[in-house]
Amino acid sequence: MKHPLIKVDEIPENGTKLVEFFGREVHVYKTNGKPRAVANTCLHFGGPLSCQDGKFVCAWHGAEFALEDGSRLQGPAPSNSRLMFLSTVVEDGVLNYIWGE
Ligand code: FES
Repeated sequence: MKHPLIKVDEIPENGTKLVEFFGREVHVYKTNGKPRAVANTCLHFGGPLSCQDGKFVCAWHGAEFALEDGSRLQGPAPSNSRLMFLSTVVEDGVLNYIWGE
């Protein structure tokens, strides 16, 4: 399965952009020039995340996660938790979700 998320040239150089993904949202962004896509879902109770000061911050209870690898930095999410990254591939200038190909 392959599903287009966004044109690579529409991904911001700084911060993130939210895109729709089968009725949910994912943050797309770049780390070290590499496009990434991560579910907009906190690993505590599923709250929404925003990109603030170079990290993801949950609006509900303040958990923080690293942009680089999604690891929990602080807050009430489990200490060894990591945000849910989508497997992706870039083809013809488009970032695609990919599964099982
Ligand atoms: S739901 Fe995100 S910190 Fe509680």
